Amino acid sequence: MWHNILLVILLLVLFCVRDVRKPAFFPPGPGWLPLVGCGYHVYKLVKSHSFYHLLWADLVRRFGPVVGLKLGRDRVVIVSGAVAIREFYSKEELNGRPDGFFFRVRSFNKRLGIVFTDGEDWDVQRRFSIKTLKALGMGKAGMAFNVEKEAEELIHHLRKLARKRNHIAMHNAFDISVLNVIWTLIAGKRFHLDDKRLEWITSTIHKSFRVIDMSGGLLNQFPCIRHAFPTASGYAPLVNLLSPLWDFLKDSIQVLNKKPKVIDTEDCLISSYLRELQKDSLHSSFSNKQLLCLCLDLFQAGSETTSNTLGFGIAYMLHHPSVVEKIHQELDKVVGRYRLPLLDDRRHLPYTEAVVCEIQRIANVAPLAIAHRALQPVQLGTYVIPKNAIAMVSLYSLHMDRSYWGDPECFRPERFLNETGDKLIQHENFLPFGSGKRRCLGESLAKSNLFLFFAAFMHAFIVEPAIEGKLPELEGIDGITLSPKPYHVKLRERLI
Ligand code: HEM
Repeated sequence: MWHNILLVILLLVLFCVRDVRKPAFFPPGPGWLPLVGCGYHVYKLVKSHSFYHLLWADLVRRFGPVVGLKLGRDRVVIVSGAVAIREFYSKEELNGRPDGFFFRVRSFNKRLGIVFTDGEDWDVQRRFSIKTLKALGMGKAGMAFNVEKEAEELIHHLRKLARKRNHIAMHNAFDISVLNVIWTLIAGKRFHLDDKRLEWITSTIHKSFRVIDMSGGLLNQFPCIRHAFPTASGYAPLVNLLSPLWDFLKDSIQVLNKKPKVIDTEDCLISSYLRELQKDSLHSSFSNKQLLCLCLDLFQAGSETTSNTLGFGIAYMLHHPSVVEKIHQELDKVVGRYRLPLLDDRRHLPYTEAVVCEIQRIANVAPLAIAHRALQPVQLGTYVIPKNAIAMVSLYSLHMDRSYWGDPECFRPERFLNETGDKLIQHENFLPFGSGKRRCLGESLAKSNLFLFFAAFMHAFIVEPAIEGKLPELEGIDGITLSPKPYHVKLRERLI
C-alpha cells in the first residue's frame, strides 16, 4: 500500500518537474506551474488589462520582443516589434494554424475551411477561393460597381432613417451593406437593409468573434469539461452562436444546388464550388462540408473586420472635427456636392484615403492577427520555437510603436501623406492585413469597401453625437477582433 502511494507521489513529482521545464532556447516569459503553465499569471493580467493585446504588450515590456508562455498544455509565443515580426512572416515553418477541439468545433470536428487549416488542403482551398473571387471581379472594375451600388443603397437607407429618427445606431450601421458586398460574391445575392434575419445574423457574427479565444482557451486543453460545464467552458455559447450561421449557410447552398448548373459561368463562389464538386478529377479536400466552412470563413472574416473598422472610423471622426472639415473640403473639390464618390475618385482623394489608413492603424481591429502554429521547430532571432507552439503576432505593437511613429496615440492622417499632401506614403510598420503566405485573402476587397463606404458616408452626412457633448468611447470591446462600443449619432444631410 505505502509503496503504491510513494510511487504515485514520485510519478507526480516527476510529472511536475517535466511539466515546468522549458524547452532549450525557448523565449523568455513568466515561470510555469504544473498543469496550468502561466495560466494563472495570464488570468490575473487579463483582469487588470481587460484587453489581450495590452496584456501581451505588458509582457513584451518585461521580457522582450519574443515572449514564451505555456497555457495549459500549449506553448504560446507572442511576437512583437518590426524586426521580430518581419522575421516571423518570412518563416515558412510558422505558416500553420492552431489545431484542437476548440478550433474544430466550427467545422464539424474536422479541419475545414481556410482560416484554421494548413498544409495541402489549405493551399488548394485558398487558391480555389482566390481564383474564383478574382474571376467574379474581386479587386477589379466589376467589383467597383457592386460596392458603389451598396454604398448608394446605404446612404439612401440612412437618409430615410435620419428623417424618421433623431438617434441612429452607428457602431453597426455598416454591417449589412458590408456583408452584402461579400455575400454577392459568395451567393450571388444581396439583402434588403431592413432584413431582420440579416440584422440578427450580423449581430451573431459580432458575438461569435467575442467568444473565440485565439489560444483555444480551457476548452481546447480539456475538451471533456464541456460535459460538466457546458456554459462556463464556453462550449454551449460557441455552438449556440455557430448553429444559426451554419443553418443560414446550409439553406443558401441548398437553394443554389437546386438551380440548373450553367457550365463555366462564374456567377458566385457557391455555384462555382458546386460545379467543381461534379468534376471527376477532384482534389480530395473538396466536399460539401468544406464548402460550408469556406463560406463561414469568408462570411465571418470578410464582414466583421470591415464593419468594425468603419464603426470605429465614424467614432474617431466625432472626436476630430478638424479632420472632418479637411475631408469635406477635399470631397467637395474633387467630387462636388451633386453626387456620391466613386471608387475611381480614390486616386484624387489622398487625404480621405490617409484618414482611412489612420483609422486602421489606430483602431487596430485585428490587434493580434490570427494565431499561427509552428509546423516544425524553427529559429526566431536567438530563440527556438518548438513544433506545434501557437505563435501570435502583435500587429498592435507595430501600429503603436513610438520609435517608428513618434506620436502613435495621436490621430494624425498626415503621417500617411507625402510633404505636398498629394500622395500616400507606404509605411513598413503598417500591416493591418498581416503579411506573408497567410496574409488576408480579402485585402483588395476590404480596401475598396473601407474607402468607398467611408467616403460616401462622410460626403453625404454631417455627424453629431446623439447627446450633445457626449462623444463615443474609443476603447472598443475585446475579442478576436476589437469592435466599437455601441454609440448613437444624429445625421444631417450635406448633399444638394
Ligand atoms: C478591414 C478589413 C480586414 C482586415 C483588417 C483583415 C485582416 C486580416 C488579418 C490580420 C488576417 C490574418 C493574417 C495572419 O494570419 O497573419 C486575415 C486573414 C484572413 N482574411 Fe482578412 N481582413 C479584412 C477583410 C477581409 C475580407 C473582406 C475577407 C474576405 C473576402 C477576408 C478574409 C480573410 C481570410 C479568409 C483570412 C485567412 C487567410 C489564411 O489563413 O490563409 N478578410 N485578415
